[in-house]
Amino acid sequence: ALPRDLEGLRVVISAGGTREPLDPVRYLGNRSSGKQGYALARVAAQRGAEVTLVAAHTVDLPDPAGAAVVHVSTADQLSEVVRAESATADVVVMAAAVADFRPASRAEHKIKKSDDGGAPTVELVRNPDILAGLVQARPPGQVVVGFAAETGDAGGDVLHHARAKLKRKGADLLVVNAVGEGKAFEVEDNSGWLLGADGTEVPIPLGAKAQLAAAVWDAVVGLRKTQGV
Ligand code: PMT
Repeated sequence: ALPRDLEGLRVVISAGGTREPLDPVRYLGNRSSGKQGYALARVAAQRGAEVTLVAAHTVDLPDPAGAAVVHVSTADQLSEVVRAESATADVVVMAAAVADFRPASRAEHKIKKSDDGGAPTVELVRNPDILAGLVQARPPGQVVVGFAAETGDAGGDVLHHARAKLKRKGADLLVVNAVGEGKAFEVEDNSGWLLGADGTEVPIPLGAKAQLAAAVWDAVVGLRKTQGV
């Protein structure tokens, strides 16, 4: 049986990939299936937490047992719900793959092909960094966990980049996933590193996404102990 070590904690988890509409039928999206975020929610509920899952687009996943699920689509919508839910949370985990950019405008009608064989240019604007905003607005004692999808391998710049990202965003923990062909996105297994703001660096071996989820919750429990909350 799993430990009930998250009992009494309210946790907010984001999952899946956001979609940024170009016109009524097209969008910019990404390959997140939602499996990692859903595994985090499932494991947290099994360990006794009160779980709110903010789900962007996923493959067809059933709502995890014991979690309250809010479905959203765009980065803006995800931001609004996560911000509101986080105000009273003990732990926030941003596993969603959030679009960094969105089309500057959304066409009211489907964009048509022109007769001259040309193609339209899509202007993009930046989406706000939700994780950084959460860190700035967080109530005392709240633990904030980010994810980072980085291309490359352990020997390369992955951890170096991730360490800089952790610092920039100000989260307590950053789960680093090496992504690329057949890795992290969409598949059943995941691996990576858990970087702590205190300088710790723990490798997470390849295993089911529930296993990585368990490692994240273990680290959160450990962090709350050292913080004395
Ligand atoms: O969904 P799966 O198929 O199971 O795949 C899991 C996963 C690979 C998507 C997941 O494990 C993961 O790594 N999610 C984060 C992907 C990501 O967007 O990484 P990033 O390096 O672009 O963003 C870093 C962090 O900032 C993330 O916590 C992200 O949620 C957050 N972010 C990003 C952009 C933005 N505008 N606002 C944010 O809050």
